[in-house]
Amino acid sequence: MTSTAPGGHLAGRGTRLAGLGALVSGAGSAGDLLGTGAATAALFAAQGAVTGVLDVSPERAAATCDLIERHGGTAIALTADITDADAVRTVVAEFAAEAGRLDVVVNNTGISAGEWDQVFAVNAKGTMLVSEAAYPHLVRSPAASVINVSTIAALRGFGSGAYAASKGAVVSMTTDYAYRWGPDGIRVNCLVPGHLNTPIGNQGGAGAKEARRKANLLGTDGDAWDLAWAALFLAGPESRFVTGVTLPVDAGTTMATGLAMVGRMTS
Ligand SMILES: NC(=O)c1ccc[n+]([C@@H]2O[C@H](COP(=O)([O-])OP(=O)(O)OC[C@H]3O[C@@H](n4cnc5c(N)ncnc54)[C@H](O)[C@@H]3O)[C@@H](O)[C@H]2O)c1
Repeated sequence: MTSTAPGGHLAGRGTRLAGLGALVSGAGSAGDLLGTGAATAALFAAQGAVTGVLDVSPERAAATCDLIERHGGTAIALTADITDADAVRTVVAEFAAEAGRLDVVVNNTGISAGEWDQVFAVNAKGTMLVSEAAYPHLVRSPAASVINVSTIAALRGFGSGAYAASKGAVVSMTTDYAYRWGPDGIRVNCLVPGHLNTPIGNQGGAGAKEARRKANLLGTDGDAWDLAWAALFLAGPESRFVTGVTLPVDAGTTMATGLAMVGRMTS
């Protein structure tokens, strides 16, 4: 799974999320490469979910909706800045009304650059605002699942400052919400992407792909689809007994010491 094009990922119609309403935030792509939110929204729609495509950019949301519809899925474009509580409440209510339900939320939006307060507002507060706005709908669902998206930079030193700290808050929110909402039957889990070939991950110029590949235990390059398939597992009924979990999707990058990787990185 190294291509960012849909390839076989959207081939055929699945039914794993049939009848569900799923909302994915940050579901556009900030560049030419496919983002994890866009891939997740497309995969969920291909698996039968009515999928809300939430992004601050209407053009980016429209591009993902177009991808979904070209593959026979149902998408609802939603535009909001997730740091704006009123705007978030409005689009979440709009989605629930149009889809008739809201069962799955993917808090995928993330920014890695910017002022400390802005990075926290998008990554941490935005995750909270979307989750809280969704709660009145999730609590009525028999299949409620919230999937947060953090980063390996929250678990290991990377020098990314506010990005690391705000995504660490996303990990903490995962366990806290899993505890609070467990009695309501709402599962809350967290995916931790490694170095993926997406707009946010593909930085570093020439040689970045090779470095990303060598930095993980499998020696393979990952892309948005790798995150999307993990999200599908956490969204669907196969994970009904899983909550509060922080799951790295990083080909083992966080499972080795730096020293152990020196030989592989320089070979
Ligand atoms: N790609 C990687 O290597 C990697 C690694 C670790 C974590 N992640 C995480 O994965 C997620 C997606 O990264 P990506 O590169 O696939 O995404 P991306 O940058 O392509 O897309 C993110 C989308 O979020 C939208 N967005 C930004 N601010 C917003 C706001 N305030 N309100 C609503 N939407 C907003 C953007 O318009 C964009 O379309 C992020 O949370 C990122 O931190 C990615």
